[in-house]
Amino acid sequence: MLHGRKILLIVSGSVAAFKALMLVRLLRAEGATVRAVLTAGGARFVTKESLAAITGEAVQDDLWAAEAEIGHIRLARWADVVVVAPASANRLAQMAQGLAEDLAGCILLATRAPVLVAPAMNPAMWAHPATRANIATLAAHGLHFIGPEDGPMAEPESGPGRLSEPAAMLFAIRTLLASGPLSGKHALVTSGPTHEPIDPVRYIANRSSGKQGHAIAAALAALGARVTLVSGPVALADPPGVRVLRVETAREMLAACEAALPAEIAIFAAAVADWRVAREAGQKLKKQPGTEAPMLNMALNPDILATISTHAQRPKLVVGFAAETEHVLEHARQKLARKACDWIVANDVSGDVMGGAENAVHLVTAEGAEDWPRMPKEEVAARLSARIVEFFA
Ligand code: C5P
Repeated sequence: MLHGRKILLIVSGSVAAFKALMLVRLLRAEGATVRAVLTAGGARFVTKESLAAITGEAVQDDLWAAEAEIGHIRLARWADVVVVAPASANRLAQMAQGLAEDLAGCILLATRAPVLVAPAMNPAMWAHPATRANIATLAAHGLHFIGPEDGPMAEPESGPGRLSEPAAMLFAIRTLLASGPLSGKHALVTSGPTHEPIDPVRYIANRSSGKQGHAIAAALAALGARVTLVSGPVALADPPGVRVLRVETAREMLAACEAALPAEIAIFAAAVADWRVAREAGQKLKKQPGTEAPMLNMALNPDILATISTHAQRPKLVVGFAAETEHVLEHARQKLARKACDWIVANDVSGDVMGGAENAVHLVTAEGAEDWPRMPKEEVAARLSARIVEFFA
């Protein structure tokens, strides 16, 4: 599947670097050529010799030696994809700063290929605001991420920080290099609920799990689309090979969607809160003995679907979702017109759809409505994606 593809693997300093060796084996088994660059930190955990033996290629670890031999620009241009695995906290910081003080840094600045980053570090380092800020910067630069996973660390600790498994990294690389029917197209997908703050500790939310939206993002990526997933707070892993922008409120979601344009495809699967609390309290609202419960003054949230449907950079195909508890089709048809979108995926959420694994939907277009049988959300995603391929064919 990766036959003839050229993969440049940057191994930075983490105890998880041994998994990079396993990844090389999987990549080569699929016919890819892998060249490795070892950072000074990486060389503390795996040797140049083991990487050379496993890649079957000379390993670069010195900016100046590489300069003399092939040059970092040529190495950067050679790659169909650059993979940083593991990416240490320090490497992420260097990348976010655009530092070019070693060979890996130069390559990461010079490459025009997609870059997949697989972070690995202690959970506290991953949670640190400095790391969070670096990740946000790199995501805004268009880098792709996989992991880290939640689980036991080398130290007797547990939490998010484990390098993704080699098979998961392989899948993400395949997705990035996919030459499917949607390759060259950018798809924007929203997913999950929004959280609308009441005060610093309370918020208004809904029961959306994000399963349907995340499945759609994964399905579009598997067909070769470049996917930006704007997600509210969910307890789901990022779909491999997808750029994920995390937001909390509807207003943040709209800003992220507008910043992600232009796109050819936009799918609004998020359950966006229609209202927010007009004025978020700066301090926690206190329960005063003998006083009434507070009244919450609500304000209307922006309608993201309607905004993007009428945007100067409107995507060619705009798909909305309609979660209804009654008159499902009738409301969906009205929504199609009111929101100026091309299709509506309507579902009856009076049962266990929200948070559940399956969905029974109707696809409503200008031509009419189709009833799809109840099926897993992944299958809804695959069918919808197949329709999108037909639309562009
Ligand atoms: O009007 P209603 O909320 O039922 O419309 C649902 C569709 O509109 C979904 O696609 C949802 O993602 C989108 N929507 C939105 N912004 C809102 C409310 C809904 O994009 N503020």
